[in-house]
Amino acid sequence: MSACTDDHTDNPQTIIEIDNLSTRFGDVVVHEHLSLKINQGEIVSLVGGSGSGKTVLLRQMLGLNQPASGSVRVFGEDINRIDAEHLQQLRNRWGMLFQQGALFSALTVFDNVAQPMRELRVLPKQLIRDAALLKLQMAGIGPEHALKMPSDLSGGMIKRVALARALALEPELLFLDEPTAGLDPNASESFVSLIRELRDEMHLTVVMVTHDLDTLFALSSRVAVLADKHIIAYCRPDKVVEFKHPFIETFFRGERGQRAFEALPDKPDQPKGGESQSL
Ligand SMILES: Nc1ncnc2c1ncn2[C@@H]1O[C@H](COP(=O)(O)OP(=O)(O)OP(=O)(O)O)[C@@H](O)[C@H]1O
Ligand SMILES: [Mg+2]
Repeated sequence: MSACTDDHTDNPQTIIEIDNLSTRFGDVVVHEHLSLKINQGEIVSLVGGSGSGKTVLLRQMLGLNQPASGSVRVFGEDINRIDAEHLQQLRNRWGMLFQQGALFSALTVFDNVAQPMRELRVLPKQLIRDAALLKLQMAGIGPEHALKMPSDLSGGMIKRVALARALALEPELLFLDEPTAGLDPNASESFVSLIRELRDEMHLTVVMVTHDLDTLFALSSRVAVLADKHIIAYCRPDKVVEFKHPFIETFFRGERGQRAFEALPDKPDQPKGGESQSL
């Protein structure tokens, strides 16, 4: 178990509970003894080195990878022990923004966002139209782009359309894999505001993989650090920087990390290397 798993509410409702998970690909062990619990309304940032297993961990939470051992519970259900129909019902309660955008290249922007709603087969056409345009607008894409193909979009626009699609079914839970990578600072800031609004208005729970320290400090209720195949620290952003671990020191204590930390609205003390809690 990692140190410092401070909960924020008195009686939190657990949305995701990963217990003693291991993930293997052949002989390659990606996760071992990995545990993580995420409460409703939290924005948890998952950080770790390249190849440390962040995307695979999200895929475990989505039921797209099978654990070698251990369990993954989402909305109280062990997602590896439920039938396909039940898993599909859970999938309708969450949205996912994949690291590479992952739009359907043969569908227009509009159709990409409308597609999850059409799959439900119950919503009237007009409602789907309005909802898709609204989700695009929320993600900062005007209706003039609705009929474009993904190949006609910039990387940042693809991200935003993918975000609109992830929001299509008004999810309770949102998974984001590097949502601001490739966005310019303005687009990153509007992304931060949007996620904050969604959290405040819809009590959305967010799990976000990010290397972007500004976004991380601006949004996270807790930061989970994946290193050495498990979560080595799981804390408030201002606390996580105090842990002594080579990855944490490189990731947070560099110039960029200091700058983002300085910008924290109500930061307590400066991170001090010498007084860090040991793991
Ligand atoms: N389907 C797969 N088959 C075999 N190995 C895989 C598979 N998917 C992921 N891996 C391996 O699992 C490890 C973790 O990959 P993952 O994509 O989760 O890293 P990451 O932390 O997301 O890295 P990045 O920051 O570069 O996106 C890597 O060694 C990767 O090669
Ligand atoms: Mg990844």
